[in-house]
Amino acid sequence: LVLILDYGSQYTHLITRRIRSLNVFSLCINGTSSLDTITSHNPKVVILSGGPHSVHSPDSPTFPAGFAEWAQETGCFVLGICYGLHLIVQRLGGVVAVGEKQEYGRMEIVVEEDSKVFGDKSAGDRQVVWMSHGDEVVKLADGFRVAARSQQGGVAAIENPEKRFYGLQYHPEVTHSPKGMETLRHFLFKVCRVEAGWKMEDVLDAEISAIKKTLSPEDHVICALSGGVDSTVAATLVHKAIGDRLHCVFVDNGLLRYKERERVMETFERDLHLPVTCVDASHEFLSKLKGVVDPEMKRKIIGKEFISIFDAFAHDLEQKLGTKPAYLVQGTLYPDVIESCPPPGSGRTHSHTIKSHHNVGGLPKDMKLKLIEPLKLLFKDEVRQLGKILNVPEGFLKRHPFPGPGLAVRVLGDVTEGNALDVLRQVDEIFIQSIKDAGLYDSIWQAFAVFLPVRSVGVQGDQRTHSHVVALRAVTSQDGMTADWYYFEHKFLDDVARRICNSVRGVNRVVQDITSKPPSTIEWE
Ligand code: XMP
Repeated sequence: LVLILDYGSQYTHLITRRIRSLNVFSLCINGTSSLDTITSHNPKVVILSGGPHSVHSPDSPTFPAGFAEWAQETGCFVLGICYGLHLIVQRLGGVVAVGEKQEYGRMEIVVEEDSKVFGDKSAGDRQVVWMSHGDEVVKLADGFRVAARSQQGGVAAIENPEKRFYGLQYHPEVTHSPKGMETLRHFLFKVCRVEAGWKMEDVLDAEISAIKKTLSPEDHVICALSGGVDSTVAATLVHKAIGDRLHCVFVDNGLLRYKERERVMETFERDLHLPVTCVDASHEFLSKLKGVVDPEMKRKIIGKEFISIFDAFAHDLEQKLGTKPAYLVQGTLYPDVIESCPPPGSGRTHSHTIKSHHNVGGLPKDMKLKLIEPLKLLFKDEVRQLGKILNVPEGFLKRHPFPGPGLAVRVLGDVTEGNALDVLRQVDEIFIQSIKDAGLYDSIWQAFAVFLPVRSVGVQGDQRTHSHVVALRAVTSQDGMTADWYYFEHKFLDDVARRICNSVRGVNRVVQDITSKPPSTIEWE
């Protein structure tokens, strides 16, 4: 195991993912964790991440007392990256000063002779790396030596092979350091002699046996399927472990896309054989949303309604089984877990508060269900890999994200007004189908149409029309936190707009949203 101590760098997750991509399991925990916590993981390598702090500020986060001694006793290797390197230098008796010449951005470094961290053969090698630091190393403790220098003569890498301490002043994990992965690979496999063997199949086996061990044979489990990748993969995995003691519910809230209910139910039942009940609650949802125009209000109503439907499902089940379901499956992912406790001062927000609205609904508190979160150590792309092993159809795994409140946040204003939802469904289907036909679906993070509660004048046939305007939105993004609008070719947009106006009654104008996030959000509400 490679354990990453997180000091708040924006790249910490990336280090974890890069190492996993080398088939080595890595976990990330808060950099201020206790020695007991760190040692309980029994890591072969510990990486101290970068971070926005200076080792000179009194409240800067650091590793616990006794860590360096423990590492030496047990033979654990330690690599500090940027701020992590400063921690090693300062805590082991060297000196870090506030840098006179701060180094930000791309920079060339030169590898010194006999460097272990880069390999004996790399002496004199020049490589471009990504630096981002203010403080600099001015004196090394006994036993340490400089392994590389920057073009300005600053310390770019250090090492103490005898004590197995290493440090890189730059970020090897980012693509702006083109040889960074090579260095990480060399460090892990040649210096630390870590064995690559971590595979998604092992994760699957481990999760299944953990579930079998946790649950007693009488325990029943419930799961709300949203039609998204995470809940589907989580449910499929749990189903593999406990069979039909899993009970899934899929709620049609009347705010789904064109034929969504039929399409996802087909995948759940035909492809995945999941035991799933489809509850048609569209009437309940839409009647509560009548006349509501405030976006937050819409979200609240939908969340509350969802909980009550879910509650009713669980109570019916209890009647049927004669016992209360004990567990709830949730498709929580690793970034949510890490972000739920970012290191102090990291400036990273609790994306939890942002993500909490991504769940299908809240957890009914009085039901006292225990959680099963089989994906909680995985990143999104790893969930897709796992889904593939579980035979979730490829097309399903690549679906664009869809918000819990569904089309309610894509019909601006009152969603129940006229036939807004129907119009939107048809427009959205034409847009998405055209994107798929053009082979663009996988290059886009999310694409959808928005129904605007305004009418404009048009002319269709010989008739003057006064019909609705719809907007098309397509963005690229890594994680939905920031996004760029997608550049379609004019010909494509022209075709889509024509098809929409020619085939959807009530629409005579199509516009494209060309704002990025920020300042806009991806959704319109
Ligand atoms: P925004 O609009 O905040 O969206 O830029 C970022 C990502 O989150 C999705 N989103 C939601 N997902 N419930 C969800 O499950 C919501 O209330 C919600 N609001 C936004 C959005 O589709 C995008 O992928």
